[in-house]
Amino acid sequence: MTQLSTLGRQEGFGATTRRDAWWVGPALTFLGLSAFLIYGTVAAWTGSYYEIRRDAPFYTPGKHNPAVAPYLSPFFAPLIYDANGSHHALIKRDLQPSWLPSWFPFSAGFLILAFPGLFRFTCYYYRKAYYRAFWLDPPACAVGEPRKSYWGENRLPLIFQNVHRYFMYIAVLFLILLTWDALLAFWWPTDRSGQLIPAKGHQFGVGLGTIIMVVNVICLAAFTFGCNSVRHLVGGRLNCFSCPNNPEQLRTGYKLWRWSTRFNERHMEWAWISLFTVGFTDLYIRMCAMGIWTDLRIL
Ligand code: FES
Repeated sequence: MTQLSTLGRQEGFGATTRRDAWWVGPALTFLGLSAFLIYGTVAAWTGSYYEIRRDAPFYTPGKHNPAVAPYLSPFFAPLIYDANGSHHALIKRDLQPSWLPSWFPFSAGFLILAFPGLFRFTCYYYRKAYYRAFWLDPPACAVGEPRKSYWGENRLPLIFQNVHRYFMYIAVLFLILLTWDALLAFWWPTDRSGQLIPAKGHQFGVGLGTIIMVVNVICLAAFTFGCNSVRHLVGGRLNCFSCPNNPEQLRTGYKLWRWSTRFNERHMEWAWISLFTVGFTDLYIRMCAMGIWTDLRIL
């Protein structure tokens, strides 16, 4: 039965005195994160069409091939291995262990997505978002939750969330790798007419995919730089700016902390924007690699 607590808050799962549409935020979060999880899993599961290959089925040597472009999906970057021997791959052979059922694809995408995925999973903003949207714990501020006790994040399993600061270092590493891939997207194996440059040559070029990859890196950087762990790190790992310390270190740390805080103030927005751009970048490259969309060569 619904009761009113001493704080004036109604108790009982879903009980609230709120009159606004408090459920819209958690519902949209549920839909958005579910859509990304399903798309990301399917993309990784397929284990293909993550780059535009010279041996793509629609590529015809000597013909105009505007879809041949130096793009690699962020879901598969860095490309640790490729069973078909992609020139992007660090290891050009199939590594599927014999104990893994043959129906389960040993996709490089699963190995890659796990790390940025855990960075987001342990992010302070995403925690709030999925605690509300998926666990309904609580569904929103001042709305009754399904359990009575709160254990916090200081015991298993949620104590695991504290590894976020370490995943931040991995996320920065991925940002560097994706920046490198975005730079490679300016280095084309074809000329403007779409002809392959002889002797595996390359030249400067810009396609719509190049711009999409660069925008994706900028959005991921804005999300990563606003991370609370980045703020703490660049601020000099200080817990108190007004405490006595080396004045120069304090000044530099404070400037960097202020810089990171600008991104942090829009951390939720960057979380969603970058989630969208990383998914769309994969989709764009996938559609071009399948020959469904044709990439636009601009320069
Ligand atoms: S707090 Fe969100 S990424 Fe670190």
